Amino acid sequence: MNRTVQNELEEIKSRGLLRSTRVINGRQGARVTCNGRDVLLLCSNNYLGLADHPALAAASIAAVEQYGTSSGASRLVSGTMELHERLERAVADFKGSEAALVFNSGHAANTGIIPALVGRGDVVFSDRLNHASIIDGILLSGARPVRYPHNDHAALALLMEKHIKKHDSGRCLIVTDGVFSMDGDIAPLAELVALKRTYGALLMVDDAHGCGVLGERGRGSAELLGVARDIDIQMGTFGKALGSFGAYAAVSAELRDLLINRARSFIFSTSLPPSVLAASQTAVALVQTPEGDQLRKQLAANSRFFRNGLAEAGFTIPDGTTQIVPIVIGSTDTTMQFSEALLAEGLFAQGIRPPTVPVGTSRLRFTLMATHSPDDLTYAVARICHVGQRLGVV
Ligand SMILES: Cc1ncc(COP(=O)(O)O)c(C=O)c1O
Repeated sequence: MNRTVQNELEEIKSRGLLRSTRVINGRQGARVTCNGRDVLLLCSNNYLGLADHPALAAASIAAVEQYGTSSGASRLVSGTMELHERLERAVADFKGSEAALVFNSGHAANTGIIPALVGRGDVVFSDRLNHASIIDGILLSGARPVRYPHNDHAALALLMEKHIKKHDSGRCLIVTDGVFSMDGDIAPLAELVALKRTYGALLMVDDAHGCGVLGERGRGSAELLGVARDIDIQMGTFGKALGSFGAYAAVSAELRDLLINRARSFIFSTSLPPSVLAASQTAVALVQTPEGDQLRKQLAANSRFFRNGLAEAGFTIPDGTTQIVPIVIGSTDTTMQFSEALLAEGLFAQGIRPPTVPVGTSRLRFTLMATHSPDDLTYAVARICHVGQRLGVV
């Protein structure tokens, strides 16, 4: 066998796709120290600044003191603590669902939920730009995947018409990101609900980037679009706007029972520890308070200011209104040069390349936080325009 690890790394490098980690020192605030430099953080999913919130830290510390550091086992052995059930009740109340189930991460949720719902003989309709963890879940399930063009519900209707007749004895699932993680646009959920009804499908929405942020009470993209009750599986994560770690599925009591019995990532993994569960529960409560409301408004204002500033400077930004603002550049080399040049200006925005995004669509993906100040964002827009002009991107 002559395929060495070194060869493989060199091959990745030759395509401009070699990745490495960058170390942040200290807390995940709006300003951080990255590789020894003081920089403005423009690529974190800590949208509301809760990863740095004293109430979450206090809840975690108190939970460690009362419950210790680990759950000690998987959920179906002895790893279900009262904190898991309390968090699940809090999530169900927040999302307006009958029940909820907590998973160890968003990736674990998607790779657990999808194979629990569909398998051989079933069909999954998946948006072309869905997150990698959804794609992994579909692959693991063995169900027949049908990818539909991004956010194109008319094309999806044609595909459902074509494929469901052939597979009408099996189960059918439509799955979509609520807010697309690399594009920042929102799925047409009302139209997907109509299709799910027409074809008797299940509808699953991954709202990793909408939870805590969208809707009047922060319940996510389904609240924003008025369809929360019509979605069978609302998956979301605690590690982004909620400033903690882990994920949930907000579902009916029946579906919760099925997931407990079938989702392998739930069954065969040590459950989340007390410190994480307590922080998550505190975050779920906090986003529903006036403080949460204020943070959401600030985030929306910051996102508008930043989007408008880049659009006025002539950058091409995909349609959207959320806190995820990409500049699609195309070339991976230019994207990485742009990212490096911004770091030298004191701005940390990670370049995003294939396979995270389709080939030819490498981009800088900026993410806004409620804790960015007007001065931070004015400076950022000016320096991004300056570097963009220098590199001929704008
Ligand atoms: C849309 C989406 N789903 C799922 C995940 C995975 O969540 P986690 O980071 O909790 O594993 C992410 C991001 O990481 C995401 O962007």
